[in-house]
Amino acid sequence: MASLKSKVDVLWKQVLDTFKWSQTGAVRYDEENFASMKRQVDALTAEDISLEASLSQMRLHPGFRNEEAVGNIHICSNDAATMQVFVLHRDQQMPIHDHPHMIGILKVIKGCVRINSYTFKGYESKKPGSSVIHTLKQTSEVCKGDPACVLTPSERNFHSIVALNGEAAFLDILSPPYFTKIDGQDLNVCNYYREGGTVSRPDGEILVRLEEIGPPDDYWTVKGNYKGPHIEQYFPNHHSSS
Ligand SMILES: [Fe+2]
Repeated sequence: MASLKSKVDVLWKQVLDTFKWSQTGAVRYDEENFASMKRQVDALTAEDISLEASLSQMRLHPGFRNEEAVGNIHICSNDAATMQVFVLHRDQQMPIHDHPHMIGILKVIKGCVRINSYTFKGYESKKPGSSVIHTLKQTSEVCKGDPACVLTPSERNFHSIVALNGEAAFLDILSPPYFTKIDGQDLNVCNYYREGGTVSRPDGEILVRLEEIGPPDDYWTVKGNYKGPHIEQYFPNHHSSS
């Protein structure tokens, strides 16, 4: 008898059917597949991935229990995409970071968060490890039950996330994963930033300066185990020669 597939299993197959990436590192997808994946992500709940079972085990770790570390539950990944959960304690912030060349889908499954998103508008200065960029900032509050948020290589590619009113958790799907290599070179490492004031454009638009910094000392994660339904590993041919 054929077994019923879980929502998360079906979602992961849809993720891998959606994202294709070329050897040059550009992620590609067609709108129909993306819309289908987005609908599935929008409907996913904490119960669908047995979040509380993972949290119970993570609370045994002092760094997580004492609300110092962010929780991180890896669900599955391959070289096209990764799917994981981050857990923030009340008022805890994931610092401003980027997702170079990546598409990201962020779905809150527990509590509420405030997301500051920044869209790149130009460099003030470009130096390895200490660039300064100008961005357009948007702020939104997103709760469990709300639709997922999407970032792309050119839109809202930088963000910070803070938990409001208590513990919050969100599912994070990224394509391609961080530290993807193209011809032996890193395509996308994670860089961190802090706000450094504003600048006014001649047209009156206010842009926010982001100053690149090293990884913040007070940001670290405790790894939790995924306790949800079994996920079949699908390996479609997602490479393309274009
Ligand atoms: Fe992120």
